[in-house]
Amino acid sequence: MADAHSIAIRCTNLHRHLGQGDNRVHVLKGVSFEAKRGDVYAIVGPSGCGKSTLLYLLGLLDQPDGGEVWIDGQQMSNSDDLARTAARGQHIGFVFQFHFLMMEFTALENVMMPMRKLNKLTPPQMTERARMLLTSVGLGDKTHRLGTQLSGGEQQRVAVARALANQPSIILADEPTGNLDVKNSAMVFDLLTSLAKENGQAVVLVTHNPEIANRCDSVRPMRDGLFV
Ligand SMILES: Nc1ncnc2c1ncn2[C@@H]1O[C@H](COP(=O)(O)OP(=O)(O)O)[C@@H](O)[C@H]1O
Ligand SMILES: [Mg+2]
Repeated sequence: MADAHSIAIRCTNLHRHLGQGDNRVHVLKGVSFEAKRGDVYAIVGPSGCGKSTLLYLLGLLDQPDGGEVWIDGQQMSNSDDLARTAARGQHIGFVFQFHFLMMEFTALENVMMPMRKLNKLTPPQMTERARMLLTSVGLGDKTHRLGTQLSGGEQQRVAVARALANQPSIILADEPTGNLDVKNSAMVFDLLTSLAKENGQAVVLVTHNPEIANRCDSVRPMRDGLFV
């Protein structure tokens, strides 16, 4: 078992260019960062400064042109697709602004999805864990609702439960409360951070909301492809 405050994710000198030809942009210009288990980090900065690009690299959804990403002490950024996909399923939970729930599936099925992919529990264990997670986000009585039958705030709580499904060491959240009202934003943020702290997970979240940023353990302002 990793130490409660060990480094869950670290990146060193990340560079990323996006676009082709004349439109090629140097988006990340040598970003280094580390996140410890049990801590919540806010990445803030103007639109277009590279926050989402960084989160994609940290989440192994994209590969850097230079630099490295280390997850639980293992260098992952340059490993092959299979290894990165496996690491993502096992170590990383994602919550995005637009939740990307499978709307035609129930809340329970959405939360079970990452567990099915990882395939470490039996189906009854998966069901039980999904129920427990949905209860912890206050949706214990709505496990059989379809995505389409849930409000925006409820959908985002399902996304939080889904991100926690495989007990990842890292939660990456890109404007997780961006499309919610004040009350639901606070609720989703509180759930995300309290559950992550209980489980000793590192949370890295991008937010435009100063109240949310101020409640994180650490705030990292970004400008033009670098931390300030
Ligand atoms: N496919 C692409 N081609 C060219 N430029 C891109 C592409 N994707 C993103 N960018 C540029 O990269 C920069 C950083 O984008 P992004 O990481 O999404 O910013 P943020 O999340 O901070 O708003 C922006 O200037 C954006 O226009
Ligand atoms: Mg963004």
